[in-house]
Parts: sequence; C-alpha cells; structure tokens
Amino acid sequence: MRIDPFRMERMQSTYENYVEYNLSESGVHPMRTNELLELGGGDVERFLGTELGYSQSNGTEELRDRIAAFYDGAKRANILVTNGGSEANFATLWSLLERGDRVAFMLPNYLQGWGLSRAFAGRADAFRLVPRREGGTMRWALDVDGLRRAVTKKTRAIVVTNPNNPTGGILTDAEMDEVVRAARRSGAFIVADEIYRGAEVSGRTAPSFWGRHDRVLVTSGLSKAFGLAGLRIGWVAGPAAAVARIWSYRDYTTIAPGMLSDYLGRIAMDPKRREAIFSRTRAIIRRNLPVLEGWLNSRQDVFSYIAPQAGAIVFARYTLPIGSLALVDRLRTSKSVLVCAGDQLGAARHLRFGFGYDVDSMQRGLERIAETVAELRQARPRRATSPGSRPRRRAVAGAR
Ligand SMILES: Cc1ncc(COP(=O)(O)O)c(C=O)c1O
Repeated sequence: MRIDPFRMERMQSTYENYVEYNLSESGVHPMRTNELLELGGGDVERFLGTELGYSQSNGTEELRDRIAAFYDGAKRANILVTNGGSEANFATLWSLLERGDRVAFMLPNYLQGWGLSRAFAGRADAFRLVPRREGGTMRWALDVDGLRRAVTKKTRAIVVTNPNNPTGGILTDAEMDEVVRAARRSGAFIVADEIYRGAEVSGRTAPSFWGRHDRVLVTSGLSKAFGLAGLRIGWVAGPAAAVARIWSYRDYTTIAPGMLSDYLGRIAMDPKRREAIFSRTRAIIRRNLPVLEGWLNSRQDVFSYIAPQAGAIVFARYTLPIGSLALVDRLRTSKSVLVCAGDQLGAARHLRFGFGYDVDSMQRGLERIAETVAELRQARPRRATSPGSRPRRRAVAGAR
C-alpha cells in the first residue's frame, strides 16, 4: 500500500531536537512523573514496584472507567486505550475504510487522517474552516456548503479535529449539528479527534461529539490538553461494537499500552485530578498567549490571525513574498527556530506558532523570526491584508 509522507510529523521529528528555539509544538510544557505521582497521592514506592509485564491490552478496567467518565453516559465497553491519539486515529480509520470509500476531511488540520484516508480509501474530500466575522469578532467557521459538497453516499467517515489544530477554533453547537446532519444523510461515521479538548482559553471544556449521534468515534489522548505526551496514552470512545472491532485491528499494531503509562494515565483521568491538570494547561495558555499576540499585533503589516479558542497554538497568515515551506526552512537553517508550515496543515501562507513552552525562550525565538521578517520585507515590500482575510486555497502539501 502506498502512503503519502506525513511531512509535518517527519519535519518535526527530524529537527525539533536540533534547533535552539522550538516553536513547533502544539501542546504545553509537559508535566513531570513526580508531579503526576504527587497529584495521585504520592505513593512512589507502589509505582516503582509495578511489574513490567503486558498491561491489559485494551487498557485496564480502571483506566477505561475513568476515561469513560469524561463522556456523558459512556461505559467501559465504549473505550479502547491506544498508544497515543495517533494510534487511535490509525486503528479507527483502518477499521472503517475500504478501497473505494470516500472520506470528508476538515481543513486546515493535522494531516494524519488525510494521509491515512488516501492510503486506505484512495481518496479524501476536503471541507474547510474559513475566517468569518460573527458578532463583531473573527472566528474560524465551518463552511457548511463545502461540508455538504464533500459528503456523498460513498463517504464512510467525516473526520474533524475539534478543538482544531492548527487554528485553535471550536465548532459551535449549530456547526456540530451540521456535521451530524451530514453523517445521518450519508450513513458515515463521524471521527472526531478531540485531543485538544480541555485546553480551552476560556476555561470552559468544549462540547464533545460524543452522544450527538450513534455513529460517532471520538479519538483523543493525554498528549495535548494534559501535557503528558510522553505517556503515549490515547483512546477511542464509541459504540461498543465499533470499539470491539477497532480493538481487533489494534491486535496487529502495538498490542497494549505500556504498564507504567496505564498506571499514570489512571491518575490523570481521575475526574478531579483531570480538572486540576486542565487548570494547569489553561494557566500556561493564558499566561503565554498574550506575549505571542503582542508580538504578532506589533507586526500587523505582515501577520494577521484569529485568536485561538483552545490549544497552545496560533495560526497566523503572513504577507511575505515566500511560501510557507521555504519560510520554515529558512527560519530553521538561518535562525535555528522551528515553526510549522501552513502548507503542511492545509492552508498556504500561514505559520503555526506554538506558545505552550518556556515563554522567555519563545520570545528569543520570536526575535530571531523578526530578523528574517525584516530581511524579507527589505527584499520586496508588500501590502498588508486585513486580519482573517480569506486564505488562498491550495491543495494539501504532500498530496499528489
Ligand atoms: C489533532 C491531533 N491528533 C493526534 C495527534 C497525535 O497525538 P499523540 O501524540 O497522542 O499520538 C496530534 C499531534 O500533534 C494532533 O495534533
């Protein structure tokens, strides 16, 4: 089976440990093992005494119960624990798709599902979030007509990321209803990657697709809103029969989550502790976001952006005379700063800035970016566009 290179993931894995300033992350500064153990009552000896055998392959009952508690009315049988949100997405799409199926895929987005859909089904049809002014403020709104066009009788899955990476946008209830309507019309499953749920700027946890339709598969995990990417704990929440089927595919990938990760995951998913971890994440977001916004706002001749509603990322449009892949390359090689290219997230002439880590380091990275911006502006000055003006449409980089 042929598969498109997952260019953004490869770019990050190749360079993130070799640059001075890494602004390519979308999550927040990770928690430490001892912080998490302390949150769980501090029984370090018990943790260190864990036998390193195979864990329960679909996740321990206690972990599944605690994950289920994050979804109204869900039960243990509705949950499959995976290695990261990425395995949840992989196993879910692998179990759903046959060659000849079609997938309606939200853009901009993290393009794992785009590449998988093209590999398993052969085709993905895009629908978009678009900048729109509503009630006096700009937001990333669902292009409902585009969604309707992308969903056909052959569509087996409608894939959304909500809260969205890279825009930080959150769908309204009315928009979620539109997605459900499209799923009902076509018989498709909604595959909702909700890995940023819990990292809202407002402090109000975003609504889930869970419970809105019987054909919903929520994928998620501890990597983003929890700041626990190193645990590699993810999950699928869905109808028991579909979850059992996905588990049978997972038998062919990694078999089980790590024993230590399941242990620590149980601490993180205890409902009270879960909320304490979300508070930590939101505090980091609220502290760091204004610093990045200040930097962007003082460069409105070059950058425009819509304030994120969730996640430690800002997706900014720019007016420099250079494509995003070349710009990211230039920032990395000449300034040792890593950011993500809009072309690898489904929107040209954008950069994704991660702001969830050390704020001083971010500021120094931004100063380096400012130098490159000045060099490029000297080379060929350009007129600014208004914030949120419609991005130029372009095919997804990496797609043939
Ligand atoms: C939307 C989305 N889903 C899944 C993942 C991967 O998650 P994990 O690290 O838990 O495998 C990412 C990582 O950036 C992501 O942005």
